[in-house]
Amino acid sequence: MLRRLHADQPSSFAFTPANQAWAEAQMTKFPEGRQASAVIPLLWRAQEQEGWLTRPAIEAVADLLGMAYIRVLEVATFYFMFQLQPVGQVAHFQICGTTTCMICGAEDLVSVCKEKIASKPHVISEDGKFSWEEVECLGACANAPMVQIGKDYYEDLTAEKFADLIDQLAAGQLPTPGSQSGRYAAEPATGLTSLKDREPGKAAFNASVQLAVDLGDTVKRIDGSEVPLLTPWLGKAVKPKAAPKAKAKAAPKPKTAKAKAAKAKETK
Ligand code: FES
Repeated sequence: MLRRLHADQPSSFAFTPANQAWAEAQMTKFPEGRQASAVIPLLWRAQEQEGWLTRPAIEAVADLLGMAYIRVLEVATFYFMFQLQPVGQVAHFQICGTTTCMICGAEDLVSVCKEKIASKPHVISEDGKFSWEEVECLGACANAPMVQIGKDYYEDLTAEKFADLIDQLAAGQLPTPGSQSGRYAAEPATGLTSLKDREPGKAAFNASVQLAVDLGDTVKRIDGSEVPLLTPWLGKAVKPKAAPKAKAKAAPKPKTAKAKAAKAKETK
């Protein structure tokens, strides 16, 4: 698929003050002169703020990082995590259509999108809430078929469960990400065959889902003010690492009387 900038672009882009501070803090994570390394998180935050990546946003990120516009454009057009056209106000669904998901029912999920959202990918639904596209493997093949919504994965889906997810989002609810068949993670679909005892203190969900539930921001626009958990380094200057101290030379071991006598014998 050709990934190009959308024909209709807004005239400008600016990070919210909180997102600007977040972006500047990200840049301090890299050594002086290597700020371009922050390009992906900054583009992602711009997308989280606006819903999609506009040309002014791409250029604003380039200006912030001191990069040529074409370099940032290359990144934005390469990764399909970046949306180059407007998306639904509530959610954009990325349906994995690669082999495992295809075998396990991805085509049924695409049919649900066609029926409930729009007949073609990247077209916004009539109520403006949703859009969808088919993407390549998202690395959750053991829990196929799956869909990415915002930054979260919804796995072990069926057409019915996926339709219900869309209805929940349309009603303003935030469905719990992760396996929709009750699996904790990627254990056998028929249940554990070993290590069956639940560890004491084990969280209700796996780490990824638990974080998503705690943050509750799967489809929310991020203005930068809401989740300190995402920005623990914000406001903290990154101290340059101190140069390692040169190892002190070990003092020669005092010679024993026996060694001294042997040495004297040699020199005679
Ligand atoms: S094939 Fe769908 S996640 Fe890998």
